[in-house]
Amino acid sequence: MRPINYLLFLAVTAWLFAFKDAFVSSDMPLAPKESLSDYGFFAGDPADQIPAADVLPYTLNTPLFSDYAAKLRFVKLPPGQSVAYQPDEVLDFPVGTVLIKTFYYPKDARDAEKGRRLMETRLLLHEAKGWKALEYIWNDEQTDAYLEVAGDSKEVVWVNELGQESALTYSMPNLNQCKGCHNQNEQLRPIGPSVRQLNGPLTYTDTTENQLLRWQRLGLLTALPALEKVPKVPQWDNAEAGTLAERARAWLDINCAHCHSPAGPARSSGLFLHWQETDATHLGVMKAPVAAGRGTGGHQYGIVPGDPNQSILVHRLESTDPGVMMPELGRRLVHKEGVQLVREWIAGLPRQ
Ligand code: HEC
Ligand code: HEC
Repeated sequence: MRPINYLLFLAVTAWLFAFKDAFVSSDMPLAPKESLSDYGFFAGDPADQIPAADVLPYTLNTPLFSDYAAKLRFVKLPPGQSVAYQPDEVLDFPVGTVLIKTFYYPKDARDAEKGRRLMETRLLLHEAKGWKALEYIWNDEQTDAYLEVAGDSKEVVWVNELGQESALTYSMPNLNQCKGCHNQNEQLRPIGPSVRQLNGPLTYTDTTENQLLRWQRLGLLTALPALEKVPKVPQWDNAEAGTLAERARAWLDINCAHCHSPAGPARSSGLFLHWQETDATHLGVMKAPVAAGRGTGGHQYGIVPGDPNQSILVHRLESTDPGVMMPELGRRLVHKEGVQLVREWIAGLPRQ
């Protein structure tokens, strides 16, 4: 090699080395790791679920009901990147983003000091070719969670808010089942983090702050309008946060709309329960079901205004029969408080 070429070679090598992170950047697929702790999402003992410096906790105003499990949610954006505001859809996170959700049962829902049983941590990784789902199941020793493609079920006992001993065979989905819910136009997609769900306070280690303002301040969210202009769903169980109708619609939106919306897997039912839906028939009001049979409970319409007992929707919410119940995935128990809210909403709709 001539000296000048050699020098050039050295310079290029040094440059490549210095910028290697830019090449192995966020659009490289993140190989699934065997254990959750391998990712470094958490600082210290992973069971404490304390996010690392580049991982941000988040919460939703109205979450999905999952057999009374409590949940912790986190987001990790690729270094230096951000997500742009959009009013209606789930935020369009850049490639390299990871969404993290841990399910647990408190030993005693009345006293957090008594500890908790971590069940599973679910991941959605945004790779160049789309979102990838991964499932990690916590060991009985609660030291770490391990990759499990086939799902599992475990007996769990806890004391609920009313002080009652509760027990359940808790089931954790296999990787094929994720797409049963995380599916928009046949693509795997996140469901929760839209601005209407994030537009509310969260208590961080330093202070309590509106989540969107914090994301903006950290440079993670761009083009945020004034908060008064940003859509918001109320907390379903806080009567001060919204009207009965708003809270019932918020509950139906997060529990049903990933399937019951124009891009969701239950679109052929014509029942659309997403937050923005305004057409009464699509919402189920005096809507005849597409299929007769057991699912109807002998009733004629999805929603009969003023009459929850005659409404198919309520019948299916109150069922635990796998051929009848709604949602058809992700629960074994009836969400009594959620059903009560929907019942009250339907009871208050003007009779036709
Ligand atoms: C029964 C339907 C259902 C199934 C099955 C399901 N999810 Fe979800 N998932 C949801 C809903 C609804 C949300 C948003 C609401 C919430 O977080 O409470 C969500 C949220 C998440 C989140 C947080 C980011 C987001 O999309 O909001 C992750 C990560 C996640 N799910 C991963 C998985 C993985 C991995 C699987 C399969 C092992 C899975 N989920 C199976 C319904 C489901
Ligand atoms: C995992 C996907 C999924 C979720 C989540 C889901 N559904 Fe469904 N739903 C379906 C499918 C598929 C059908 C059509 C087949 C049937 O009737 O069983 C359906 C049908 C229905 C019907 C009959 C609709 C008609 O007019 O024919 C009602 C009522 C219903 N669902 C209510 C709900 C409610 C309320 C929720 C939320 C609490 C919900 N569903 C959540 C998949 C889902």
